[in-house]
Amino acid sequence: MTIFQKFSLLFLLIWVPSIIIGCDITASLTSQTFHEIYAQFTFHNNTKSPIYHFDTDGQTQLVHITGMFCNMKPTKLDVYRTSPTADTKPSGTSQAFIEGFGYVNYMLLSDGVFMGMKAGIACAAGDCGASKG
Ligand SMILES: *[C@@H]1O[C@H](CO)[C@@H](O)[C@H](O)[C@H]1NC(C)=O
Repeated sequence: MTIFQKFSLLFLLIWVPSIIIGCDITASLTSQTFHEIYAQFTFHNNTKSPIYHFDTDGQTQLVHITGMFCNMKPTKLDVYRTSPTADTKPSGTSQAFIEGFGYVNYMLLSDGVFMGMKAGIACAAGDCGASKG
C-alpha cells in the first residue's frame, strides 16, 4: 500500500462508523430530590427505556442513546411520582430533538425534568437547557 492508501484506509476506519452510527449520546439522569421518583425515556426510535427508579438525592443513572438518525424524532424523558403504568400521567416531561456525539445531563425533580449541562450535543425545538452548545 502507498502511504496515501494507508491514510485513506485510516480515514475510512474512523469516519465510516461515525456515519453509520449517526449519534452516540451518554445521558446522565440525576435526581435532585429526596422524593421517590421514576423516569423513563421514549427514544427517537419510538422504543421506551426501562423505568429508572430514584430514591436518593443525587442518585445518578447513565443511559446510552445510539442510532442512525437520532434527530428524526424527539427524545422524550418523563418523570413520575409513582411507578408508571400505561395510563400514568408524567409529573414532568423534557422533550427535544437531540443528536451528536457527546454527553447530556438531565436534572430530575418530583414535578419536573430539566436539561442541564451538555457537550457535543446539538439540541433543537424543545427543552435544550439554559446553555447553548
Ligand atoms: C432504540 O434506541 C435506543 C437508544 O439508543 C436503543 O437502546 C434501542 O435498542 C433502540 N431500539 C430499536 C428497536 O432500535
